[in-house]
Amino acid sequence: MNILVIGDVVGDRGTDAVLDNLDALKRKYQIDFCIINAENACSANGISRRKAEALLSAGADVLTLGNHTFRQKDAYTLLAHNERIVRPINYPPETVGNGSCVVEKNSVKILVANALGRVYLENVDCPFRELKSALEKSDAHIKIVDFHAEATSEKRAMGFYLDGIASVVFGTHTHVQTADAQILPKGCGYITDVGMTGPYHSCLGVDKNIVIDRFVKCSQSRFEFADSAANISGAVFCVDEKTGKCTSAQSFTVLPGEAV
Ligand SMILES: [Fe+2]
Ligand SMILES: [Fe+2]
Repeated sequence: MNILVIGDVVGDRGTDAVLDNLDALKRKYQIDFCIINAENACSANGISRRKAEALLSAGADVLTLGNHTFRQKDAYTLLAHNERIVRPINYPPETVGNGSCVVEKNSVKILVANALGRVYLENVDCPFRELKSALEKSDAHIKIVDFHAEATSEKRAMGFYLDGIASVVFGTHTHVQTADAQILPKGCGYITDVGMTGPYHSCLGVDKNIVIDRFVKCSQSRFEFADSAANISGAVFCVDEKTGKCTSAQSFTVLPGEAV
């Protein structure tokens, strides 16, 4: 089964790039299942009903989130009523929504879980224990993790920690794609970060001049997404549904103006 993962969709530019190109990407890579990280889909980060519906009806099977999960008020009802929108599993148990979901596709049960790193991020429960416990309890044929984290060390440690339990561990959050798509020793497909789908000439999606002024002038200007054509960043993992192991892992980037 071929699984497409698309990294943090940023704003209208990123959303439109997905809507315009998802069908072509699915055809190109013969995709059976698609996961999109949508934590920055709205202009002030987070996810709205409109953006969630657009991405799901464009062909995403599951949307994952991250540290911006609750930026938009829609998130509370979306997470309460849509099992295919998944927030970090290591938020406190009282938090609305689910940290994982199971979707059946072509008679194959696929678990998707999301977790938040703790290095330079939020003070949440242990992502290692939470993910391991959820994955070990599940009888899904394929188990996929979006580990939304800042530090490359924390992400690589998670990959090795879940190797042999997860089919795929992919990283999100840094908005910069890493060149390390690989298969770990026990068959887990892995990439440290799939990268961003959003304004290409930007600092992680934000207007570059606002970010430069923050560094150079100690400016406190509010972040606004850059008005620049979007690139698409993602990865494709082939997973054997009988063994749950990954057989190939590759990353890709579609630059603005480039055909899929
Ligand atoms: Fe993000
Ligand atoms: Fe993030």
